[in-house]
Amino acid sequence: TTAFLRTCCVQNIHSVKIGAFWTSVTKLGLHTKPRMPPCDFTPEKYQSLTYERVLEIHKQHLSPILTAYFPKPLLLHQGHKEWLFDYEGNRYLDFFSGIVTVSVGHCHPKVNAVAQKQLGRLWHTSTLFFHPPIHEFAEKLSALLPEPLKVIFLVNSGSEANDLAMLMARAHSKSTDIISFRGGYHGGSSSTLGLTNVGPFKTELSSGLGCQSTMCPDVFRGPWGGSHCRDSPVQTIRKCSCAPDCCQAKDQYIEQFKDTLNSSVAKSIAGFFAEPIQGVNGVVQYPKGFLKEAFELVRERGGLCIADEVQTGFGRLGSHFWGFQTHGILPDIVTMAKGIGNGFPMAAVVTTPEIANSLAKSVLHFNTFGGNPIACAIGSAVLEVIKEENLQENSQEVGTYMLQKFAELRDEFEIVGDVRGKGLMIGIEMVKDKMSRQPLPREEVNEIHDNCKRMGLLIGKGGIFAQTFRIAPSMCITKPDVKFAVEVFRSALIQHRDRRAK
Ligand SMILES: Cc1ncc(COP(=O)(O)O)c(C=O)c1O
Ligand SMILES: *[C@@H]1O[C@H](CO)[C@@H](O)[C@H](O)[C@H]1NC(C)=O
Repeated sequence: TTAFLRTCCVQNIHSVKIGAFWTSVTKLGLHTKPRMPPCDFTPEKYQSLTYERVLEIHKQHLSPILTAYFPKPLLLHQGHKEWLFDYEGNRYLDFFSGIVTVSVGHCHPKVNAVAQKQLGRLWHTSTLFFHPPIHEFAEKLSALLPEPLKVIFLVNSGSEANDLAMLMARAHSKSTDIISFRGGYHGGSSSTLGLTNVGPFKTELSSGLGCQSTMCPDVFRGPWGGSHCRDSPVQTIRKCSCAPDCCQAKDQYIEQFKDTLNSSVAKSIAGFFAEPIQGVNGVVQYPKGFLKEAFELVRERGGLCIADEVQTGFGRLGSHFWGFQTHGILPDIVTMAKGIGNGFPMAAVVTTPEIANSLAKSVLHFNTFGGNPIACAIGSAVLEVIKEENLQENSQEVGTYMLQKFAELRDEFEIVGDVRGKGLMIGIEMVKDKMSRQPLPREEVNEIHDNCKRMGLLIGKGGIFAQTFRIAPSMCITKPDVKFAVEVFRSALIQHRDRRAK
């Protein structure tokens, strides 16, 4: 078995398993299965539960499997950098990193060493006592944020961070109403569900009192959009007659925002939440300048502006460390999670001393696990690795290269409607055809998705109609990884075309 696993490590074994499947591709002129870049890591031998037993236990004792990807869910065993290994030893290129979370790579040796050291030293103290990891981390993280964003609250998840940010905005403004975009995802707790406006996550039960949604300025799918609206190396296929320094789409969407302010909220509002680029909604980008104007309008009403950097932070967008910087704006509150801990559960809210004091005056905020020694030690190690390994620069370089490669596939295939994003946060929106921009039916999207997995590539999905592929790998990926991913995706598109032609 060991020899078997070692072989798998060098070359994924799917070529054997799906030989028949492969033949149809060969007919189309693709002579070989895309070849994975090499990896010198050998996973441990899998000695745990059988696949069948896992399915049984899952069905009996875990929340319904609905959200699992693939008709045959993937049973993973081990991770190394951008690679994942399943229970059979098959290797996969992980281009979704546990939903935009494993920021510096699976089981990064430096992060692992720091975590192990802290595990043997001290696990938990609560906020009743001090421990240096929290102070070391606070100093490192605050150094990465502009004045006056210097006060940090540590919690355990993105939803908790946004819950706290909602409370802060209300405590500071002494108002209730909060606005967020349609298509925005800010968490699944009962209060953040009011901010989240992605249909399937909404419940019939009352939740999110005082939250109002506003039109998402989506320059690909929305009513307005043109040929240089967004901050991305790739623009939409829509044409416009705007001069380079103006954007009519932006102006139209700002009118919609004003309409929301005039019609749906009180004169004084608590705040406005926005992801610098929407993640769950399929990497949706707004027109340049939109957030800047929207922030001004919100502040005129006494509201605070909150940037949800849960997906966009920590260098992923390449050009900047934080997503808000790409819009030239300064938020009042920044929330962060996911990539902050490379997969360890931790999150943070950063704000100004003034807003922090408003919260302190109005409520005793308490969180048992927030800022625990292990999380903080890991958080510091992650920040060091991002810096030492130039991962922000790598996101910029490899991400821009990948965007350009995928843009070529958009020109080649009618069903690839849009390619967008920045750095290593990329969306590929699938359509029936470019003219209608109607979403490609779910079954077809799923076939392509599953097909990529069979060839060894894991990518995500998003969008209200689950029509957009999402790519957000660990920031340590290389250009050969990208070449492989683009070849696999292209092959999956060719196979899709072949199936439909029959
Ligand atoms: C932008 C954004 N905010 C908040 C959250 C909620 O984070 P968590 O799942 O850690 O509660 C998510 C999760 O996907 C997210 O993408
Ligand atoms: C909003 O109200 C202001 C007056 O308070 C008005 O000037 C403006 O045209 C309105 N805008 C929209 C889009 O409703």
